Amino acid sequence: MKDIETNRDIMKAIIAIALSIVLVICFGAIHDNEFSWDYAAAIYHPGTYEASARGFGGDVDVTVTVDKHNITDIQVTGDHETENIGSVAIEMVGDRIMEAQDTDVDTISGATVTSMAVVTAASTALGEAATDVPKPEKEETEEPVEKTAEELDVDIVIVGAGGAGMTAAIKATEAGKKVLLVEKMPYAGGNTTRATGGMNAAETHYQKEQGIDDTVEQYVKDTMEGGHNLNDPALVQALAEGSAPAIDWLDSIGAPLPKIAFTGGSTNPRAHAPEDGSAVGIYLVSAFKKQLEEKNIPVLYNTTVTEIIMKDGRAVGVKADSETADYTINAKAVILATGGFGGNEQMIVENNPALAGYVSTNAPGATGDGIVMAQEVGADVVDMDQIQLHPTVEQRTRMLITEAVRGNGAILVNKEGKRFVNEMETRDFVSAAEIEQTDGCAYVIFDQNLRDNVAAVEKYFGIGVVSEGATIEDLAGEIGLDPVVLSRTLADWNKAVANQKDPEFGRTTAMDADLSTAPYYAILVAPGIHHTMGGLKIDVNGEVLNTKGKAIPGLFAAGEVTGGVHGGNRLGGNAVADVVVFGTAAAESACTYTDKLK
Ligand code: FUM
Repeated sequence: MKDIETNRDIMKAIIAIALSIVLVICFGAIHDNEFSWDYAAAIYHPGTYEASARGFGGDVDVTVTVDKHNITDIQVTGDHETENIGSVAIEMVGDRIMEAQDTDVDTISGATVTSMAVVTAASTALGEAATDVPKPEKEETEEPVEKTAEELDVDIVIVGAGGAGMTAAIKATEAGKKVLLVEKMPYAGGNTTRATGGMNAAETHYQKEQGIDDTVEQYVKDTMEGGHNLNDPALVQALAEGSAPAIDWLDSIGAPLPKIAFTGGSTNPRAHAPEDGSAVGIYLVSAFKKQLEEKNIPVLYNTTVTEIIMKDGRAVGVKADSETADYTINAKAVILATGGFGGNEQMIVENNPALAGYVSTNAPGATGDGIVMAQEVGADVVDMDQIQLHPTVEQRTRMLITEAVRGNGAILVNKEGKRFVNEMETRDFVSAAEIEQTDGCAYVIFDQNLRDNVAAVEKYFGIGVVSEGATIEDLAGEIGLDPVVLSRTLADWNKAVANQKDPEFGRTTAMDADLSTAPYYAILVAPGIHHTMGGLKIDVNGEVLNTKGKAIPGLFAAGEVTGGVHGGNRLGGNAVADVVVFGTAAAESACTYTDKLK
């Protein structure tokens, strides 16, 4: 008996070694790009597939869901991966595979083993999904797909499954409506996935518990001033008044945002973030997706809405198409939550030619389709030329370096090693100042203390965009700045923090901690397109207005597809507030409207 067990153990060990060798060969081959299966061209068996691969501290498990042509979802867990770096790699590599629709994605430097485990497991799962599907001998000429004509009936159809769309869908479902979400991308999240810093809200229970004296009135004032008073004051009032209830609602769905920081242009700390300072967007999108699942809210992915159906002057549904079906979706009300147009270079340049050539931080789905579609049925637009440049975008990766870094104490220095602006000014102001500097760029400088407090920065380390020095002089050497000048700049800044007075640039906020805890860090940044403030004209109920200022019956909108909330410049933290507050308003109005139709 004992011998049999010993033999079994030996066999197990041999199998384990053989598998490891295969894995190592795969790792190497994938890394060298030799192992290439063009998954984008493959035809999958629709379904959900699971696979695991050895990561840094154990198995990384990947669950991939595919339809006939696309990866529609990827879930990765690796409980034993190093906290932060490994978990960031898991999240980022999964996102990259989703975006590329392919496992041939860059690994995250500093977390190569974890990254490769995700890639390997996803490749294995996708290989399974493609099992028995004959690989094309040569370039495949796509067989024209016989599309089916589908007709669906719902109470409310919501176009776009980003933050605003998902909020609206959850709220309308809670109110008892039959809802359908339609999303052109193979995954949910939209630009909300990219939001990092926090969600602005005033008079919240978190602020009160932390002794932060803030008011709705001050929030309105800051938002109007930050937007150069181009904003619609009624919308701003609704945003501010709806913000604390929105925080309470997020609490109720298991997405608390207790950590509070400053953002540029805010008089008081009001950007609410997850406890550990991690990115707010991914955190909320996960919570919203969980709600969609729990409430059985259907989402049609890979389905593009092409037209709003109008009847007797009312919006009564949408036409949409996917690779396999042409849909007519009849609804009592339509909510547009399709996002802005920051990912559509042509539309950016048409509306503001001065912005040609800037990189964009936006998600690929932010192409402005909802704005165009609504205009076709008579909707009015506002502020289409008002497009925000965010001052801290790492240019090679287009990675947004969150304002929360400055909001927790970082400074900006130019290539001469000197500060050049109040870093907590509004984004348009800081971007304009940065463009004036040598090469139109700057370094975000922070220290270990900040790193320990803002988990969101770990992903910047993960993608290899952070320079590091054991001393300020070392850091200066790393990034090619004059060490004497940079040391003096840091000493002056730390003195300003100690005195709570910034004689050079008059900064008054985010001065709670100085920059004196080694090691020191720097990220090279320049401005990038971040938010399109213009869009569909709405009222406080999220009703879409026509060119005569009248609500188009049955048509509602929320989030970045709308204009007027942010005026000429959006404050950091106001986009997430916008999607939750106006996603709620649009859902409530659509519910009231559909009730009246009964
Ligand atoms: O800088 C940021 O984290 C961006 C936040 C926002 O766009 O609101």
